[in-house]
Amino acid sequence: MQDFKVAISNCLKEKIEELSLEEISALIEIPPNKDMGDYAFPCFKLSKIFRKAPNMIAGELAESIKAEGAISKVIQLGGYVNFFVNKSQLAQTVINDVLTQKGNYGRSEMGKGQNVIVEFSSPNIAKPFHIGHIRTTVIGNAIYKIYESQGYNTTRINHLGDYGTQFGKLIVAFKLWGDKKVVEASPIPELLKLYIRFHEEAEAHPEMEDEARAWFTKLENGDKEATDLWQWFRDESLKEFNRVYDLLDIEFDSLAGESFYSDKMPRVISMLEEKGLLIESKGARIVDLEPYKMPPALITKNDGSTLYMTRDLAAAIYRQETYNFDKCIYVVGSQQNLHFEQWFKVIELMGFEWAKDLEHVGFGMVALESGTMSTRKGRVVFLEDVLKQAIDKTKETILAKNPNAQNADEIAKQVGVGAVVFQELSNSRIKDYTFSWDRTLSFDGETGPYVQYTHARCCAVLRKAQEEVSTDINYELLTNEDSSEVLKVIASFNKSIVAALRKNEPHIVTRFVLDLAQAFNKFYHDNPILVEDVELRKARLALVESTRQTIENGLKLLGMHSPERM
Ligand code: ARG
Repeated sequence: MQDFKVAISNCLKEKIEELSLEEISALIEIPPNKDMGDYAFPCFKLSKIFRKAPNMIAGELAESIKAEGAISKVIQLGGYVNFFVNKSQLAQTVINDVLTQKGNYGRSEMGKGQNVIVEFSSPNIAKPFHIGHIRTTVIGNAIYKIYESQGYNTTRINHLGDYGTQFGKLIVAFKLWGDKKVVEASPIPELLKLYIRFHEEAEAHPEMEDEARAWFTKLENGDKEATDLWQWFRDESLKEFNRVYDLLDIEFDSLAGESFYSDKMPRVISMLEEKGLLIESKGARIVDLEPYKMPPALITKNDGSTLYMTRDLAAAIYRQETYNFDKCIYVVGSQQNLHFEQWFKVIELMGFEWAKDLEHVGFGMVALESGTMSTRKGRVVFLEDVLKQAIDKTKETILAKNPNAQNADEIAKQVGVGAVVFQELSNSRIKDYTFSWDRTLSFDGETGPYVQYTHARCCAVLRKAQEEVSTDINYELLTNEDSSEVLKVIASFNKSIVAALRKNEPHIVTRFVLDLAQAFNKFYHDNPILVEDVELRKARLALVESTRQTIENGLKLLGMHSPERM
């Protein structure tokens, strides 16, 4: 839909050559009270350009702009030109757009022909998928959906942490104390126990560390026993990860994790060598980043083994060659800021002009209420438990309200998981926050269940009405303030998605669905829908269906379902 702001900017642009369309649009404000109009254009900037009083300019502009189409009235108020939008045209445009585009409402082809990679989640094999991973997982998934909705050719990569010296330790621990059956019954907690025990015992027996290094070298050299064990740790861990991904309804296009690049690193190392970037330092090889005020990038250790950073370099080069990306996004916690700054710089120093297309999308930490989560100490909150508890609690609530509720399990899953996801997405990324069971399991206030409930409320009205919703209605009946507020929010859907995309901030979309739910609930409260008057009923039902569809589309972008009953 042509936003009203766009229509107003276009009108103004015809009269003002001195400012660009973007500049005009950026100046437009919402007046403090509705009687003053729907939008206002301040003339103070023009006053400087023309050396003329703002109210004179505003007067002239108001005089010369014709009220037609989307605009019903133009007036001067002091140094401002104020616009009143044509409410029935607003209603007609919005409702026609939503009801004809349906699931596509909000989508665009803005990114056509551009390749975007979104790397997210990337948990570590044999380590818990804990509450700290939820942010990368749900933020990344939402960012993927947002790009995809605007026509970008988007690829999801899960850069699994399935390689590194810790696998040497795990092999040693498993060979000493492990039991295949016990691990298979509960893979990650058991592997974690082994890992913790390794660290405890290695304190007294440092030679265990050497043994672990030796096993990792065997793994790097393709030794059969080492590879089989590693493969088994990976398979068992993935089973657990997949349970969480199933609950969240998240899929990936590629699971190429760190191990995938193990045979691609020699090439990177020789590229660095050819470009004269590699220097020896105490047996290790590094790229000096001193001129950029950063610690050196460690490429190989003194025993020749490669590092996390080496694998990131290899992965970026591989992805550029394979996907020819226009943008490669890494959704990874802000603790890794320096790591990304360092290796992005190395890519730039290697002369790859696409270094500018790498983007680290960071986010704040999740702390636990008491103490921190540390895999070494084994104090963790498993993400699967959080989701399951949210589902159980939702089911209790549903059955308490209606003991015969149908599909209680399915609805509880959609709402319980939705509550957790929405909470994660409703803060701006960068903020740290403290995980609290109470807050996560509370559905009051500005929560996912509140938005889903508003959707279910729309469905209930539509079910009760039992009549076809049509665009052939009297739009004059949707011009009161409550209706216009709902319609204005719906009209801004695409703009919110694009803003979320530009900033990689899904919370702009959570804000949008909350605003829509609030505007609709106000409308619902004060405007009875299933009234006798056929014309009025039809008009209001069209508004209900437009709201319902837009909420559904919005929640989908966040990775959430919209149950029809709650
Ligand atoms: N596996 C890592 C971790 O959990 C995150 C990987 C981030 N992605 C990357 N390309 N470095 O800490």
